[in-house]
Amino acid sequence: MKRMLSGIKPTGQLTLGNYIGALRNFVKYQDDYEMVVFIANLHCITEYQDPEDLRKNLTDAVALYMACGLDPEKSVIFLQTDVHSHAELGYILACNTYLGELNRMTQFKDKTAKGEKNMTAGLYTYPCLMAADILLYNANYVPVGEDQKQHVELCRDIAQRFNNRYGETFVVPEPLIAKVGARIMSLSDPSKKMSKSEETNKGCIYLLDDLKSARKKIMSAVTDSVGIIQLDKENQPGLYNLIEIASALSGRSMEDIVDEFSGEGYGKLKAYVADVVCAELEKIQNRYREIIESHQIEKVLNEGALKASSIADRTLEEVKKKIGLEIKY
Ligand code: AMP
Ligand code: TRP
Repeated sequence: MKRMLSGIKPTGQLTLGNYIGALRNFVKYQDDYEMVVFIANLHCITEYQDPEDLRKNLTDAVALYMACGLDPEKSVIFLQTDVHSHAELGYILACNTYLGELNRMTQFKDKTAKGEKNMTAGLYTYPCLMAADILLYNANYVPVGEDQKQHVELCRDIAQRFNNRYGETFVVPEPLIAKVGARIMSLSDPSKKMSKSEETNKGCIYLLDDLKSARKKIMSAVTDSVGIIQLDKENQPGLYNLIEIASALSGRSMEDIVDEFSGEGYGKLKAYVADVVCAELEKIQNRYREIIESHQIEKVLNEGALKASSIADRTLEEVKKKIGLEIKY
């Protein structure tokens, strides 16, 4: 069985963008692939996090993974810091990555361009740690949203370089990007991606938002003055985004939704999108509460870390041998 791996940073609460672009797909894939999913807590501290908030977000993230349908019987679920090989291979791969490559990473470039202060060295070398996350497990596929594609491509370059230098070691992974929903946009500014790090909360729906406020965010989503329900991403990006969200969650095609609402006002379409989103959130939140109350998270993470370590530690040993980091007695 081919292996698939992905991670999500537990910075703040998980969003509808995380669900549609990433989590939901992990759940679909877990029957046909060996699925490895982890909470990327090391990636999270590339920017300062309040320790209390971080701890709470970690637990919520695991509970939400499971509430969205990830099944610990089918998938390996673990916390990144429970498997020490990640940090170690991350360092080794940083020594096999060039500054020029890291300088080209869009996420880093955007932050620099915005003039962000206090950027850390960890943020800069983040793609090397991400490459380690993937290569430790010899993953064939990496399901991610559009924004992570460049990082997976860098991971491929690093893997190929390592294999050329030291002999076949790593499987070169492929990014897997869903056709619908790979980039859900902010409801308040459809030119930006829906993100946990938005300044106001208006444009972002969190999986644990109460249903009333989620509905309100959708009903007040920014659209346009064209007034026609159709698929025109360039001129009506807000409307397109709403239709894409509904399509991703309902399984209906975007065209089918447009057909149903063509000739209607935006309010009616928004109400439909809100119904679809709220029904999904309600299901997730009910499961989430059950999971939190059942106190199974610690057990899931312990078992996950054991399984993950047994794969990752073996890869790291092989890497160290190939590089010549070990003394043979
Ligand atoms: P992050 O929250 O940045 O750790 O992202 C975790 C996963 O969710 C990655 O695969 C992202 O590509 C995906 N993701 C995050 N935000 C969005 C979004 N607005 N639309 C689609 N996918 C997203
Ligand atoms: N960088 C990813 C993000 O911000 C999270 C992540 C860390 C990841 N390691 C990974 C995703 C490995 C896929 C594979 O979304």
